[in-house]
Amino acid sequence: MKKHHKLAQELLTKLGQEHVLRFVDRLDAAQQDALFAQIASLDAHTLSRMRKTLEQRSDTALHDELPEPAPVISLSAAERIAALSRGEELLAAGMVGVVLVAGGQGSRLGFDGPKGVYPVGPLSGASLFEIHARKILALENKYRISIPLYIMTSAANDAATRAFFEEHNYFGRDRANTVFFSQGMWPALTKDGRLILDAPGHIFESPDGHGGLLAALKKHALFEDMRQRGVTTLFYFQVDNPLVNVADPVFLGVHAGNFSEFSIKVCAKRDADEGLGNVVLQESGSRRMLEYSELTVAQKSACDESGRLRYYFGSPAIHVFDRVFMEQQAEQDLPLHVANKKVPYCDEAGRLVQPDTPNACKFEKFIFDVLPRAQRSVSLEFDRADEFSPLKNASGTDSAETCRRDMLLKWARWLEECGIKVPRHDEDGAPAVALEIDPCYALGPEDLMANLPSGFTISGDTLLSAETAG
Ligand code: UTP
Repeated sequence: MKKHHKLAQELLTKLGQEHVLRFVDRLDAAQQDALFAQIASLDAHTLSRMRKTLEQRSDTALHDELPEPAPVISLSAAERIAALSRGEELLAAGMVGVVLVAGGQGSRLGFDGPKGVYPVGPLSGASLFEIHARKILALENKYRISIPLYIMTSAANDAATRAFFEEHNYFGRDRANTVFFSQGMWPALTKDGRLILDAPGHIFESPDGHGGLLAALKKHALFEDMRQRGVTTLFYFQVDNPLVNVADPVFLGVHAGNFSEFSIKVCAKRDADEGLGNVVLQESGSRRMLEYSELTVAQKSACDESGRLRYYFGSPAIHVFDRVFMEQQAEQDLPLHVANKKVPYCDEAGRLVQPDTPNACKFEKFIFDVLPRAQRSVSLEFDRADEFSPLKNASGTDSAETCRRDMLLKWARWLEECGIKVPRHDEDGAPAVALEIDPCYALGPEDLMANLPSGFTISGDTLLSAETAG
């Protein structure tokens, strides 16, 4: 037996997972090598934490006493101007980096390929990645700087993501300022703590959650990269929200002005059932994210004296982090979150079975679990109509249809702010034409006002793009 095979076998014995080798005799040499390499990459510390988490798991988590919602900053016009100028200083000094987490599996959307490739632009068919990248390009042009974009992928979509950027020439940005890195993959366990084979020579694994960001940045030496580029502040967002105001200078300014380590944008929840987390205060005075799943139906819809939802504000995962804080957090474990899932497995004969009901526990880390460790944190209110409409589902709520509707409504408002008449339907007031504004044409109504040619009117579908503007 090869030496590394023997070591892997010893590791499995130590972990009580010898069943992983039950089909080993059927594998050819290459398959055996691959399996033993996968075994060698198992992290005994994490596996033992996973098993402990399962042992201690209880389904009756919920709270009797509800924690206080954390205070939320709503800016006055004057405060907004001050924050904008502070944020612009940070941007102009090249101190801001952007982190895009795009390693998820997008299982609800069911799209074949990385979610960022999804064509969501109402007229251009621009992908989510293109929309995000062009917002960064617009900022780079505006402030005459480079903004490094760090994109977290996973084993399942890393190659396709890189190829997509390459194929589209990095959407006009300098390729040296787009950095891809893969997050970690974790095995799932059966309810009694056993690893699962999804092929005779392969252990089932899936991405380790958006909280895997910290370990991945550390592993790929990207804190070092940030230091070398002079990046002190990181704007963090998720791939699925085409409305996001990437590296919003006002948000950056609020973060810096409050000496915050971890700042969170929050918006009014659509209703009590919307699955957004709530920032709450702990007894120690620190903050934490109260997850939607921690509340009963009654608790979710509880109201305060004014009749407003007690947990009125939700977090759509738009954050600003202090780089040093993140770097410190990467040295510590994050809690494990468990979910019951359907995981394909090999039966006794080695045939693949797709279960009809959850048969396994998947583990993930969540980035917001570093919140209680922040010395200073702020939540900033924003208007969801302007900045939040995620692509989660193939149809219905939070689908491509609702994303496009919300983009259209936003651009119609911008145009109307500039005094342009937008044809609207009588019945529901929705725009009667399709609209699209390329981020490099305008990042907001002020840019639009400056760039629209005089006498501009809208008579049909209208795409305003930097290229055609000439
Ligand atoms: P979601 O929790 O919405 O998951 O991720 P998802 O993978 O996009 O979709 P479903 O739940 O399978 O349908 C929120 C954000 O976090 C990223 C996603 O790519 C998305 O930007 N994410 C999630 C990761 O980067 N890694 C993960 O392991 C999980």
